[in-house]
Amino acid sequence: MYPKLGVNIDHVATIRNSRGTTYPDPLYAAVLAELGGADQITIHLREDRRHIIDRDLQLLRQTVKTRLNLEMAVTDEMIAIAKKNRPDMTTLVPEKREEKTTEGGLDLKKDSDKTIKTINELKEADITVSLFIDPDLDQVHLAREFGAHAIEIHTGTYANEVTPEGLNREFDKIKESANNGNNIGLKVYAGHGLHLQNIQPLLSIPVIREYNIGHAIIGQALMIGIEKAVREMKECIYRFYPSDK
Ligand code: PXP
Repeated sequence: MYPKLGVNIDHVATIRNSRGTTYPDPLYAAVLAELGGADQITIHLREDRRHIIDRDLQLLRQTVKTRLNLEMAVTDEMIAIAKKNRPDMTTLVPEKREEKTTEGGLDLKKDSDKTIKTINELKEADITVSLFIDPDLDQVHLAREFGAHAIEIHTGTYANEVTPEGLNREFDKIKESANNGNNIGLKVYAGHGLHLQNIQPLLSIPVIREYNIGHAIIGQALMIGIEKAVREMKECIYRFYPSDK
């Protein structure tokens, strides 16, 4: 079975919020992504609401026809929000206010009590829980021990590698973690920093059942769509000056 694609639409909200407008609307982006074949819509409701806001989550919950994956920090506030909005899946991620984007996986050795409590509360509410972790066997085994349904392997370090040796090393770590996770009964997903080129070697790891991709898809959407958007504005202007066309 081919792996599923979760499309992360946070960056649409980033552009909207940079001007305080109501557009571009992540809700529209979600609908279009689904029309394009997205198997899942992924959003990260951050503590500082820098991109996705509570209203987006509520509207997306009502609108998304595939699956809604809510990335969230391990906090009481987010547990309450997840229980209220009931996404199809939650992905627990570490969160630092000063970071540009999620910089790595959860450290399950360090944050064990809080993470276990969050997993249990979400599971009691019948919500699927995935843990975003680095490709590290200890983390994979802890994820299983803590009772998570799934892991999402952080591919950011792999994506940032530029040398063939570095790429091979990071690829091997992802493959080993993915296979181990699958062998011990976890569903295995992957994401962060992936684009059309660097996803290709990973597609040879069949146990990875889903990829979550945001920045590259939204960036590419700008490139593919910019010509059409300019033409549309030119047409709007021309309509008032039909004789000059
Ligand atoms: N998976 C997780 C857990 C993330 O936090 C992010 C970024 O929000 C992504 C996937 C998508 O990463 P990118 O935008 O680099 O494709």
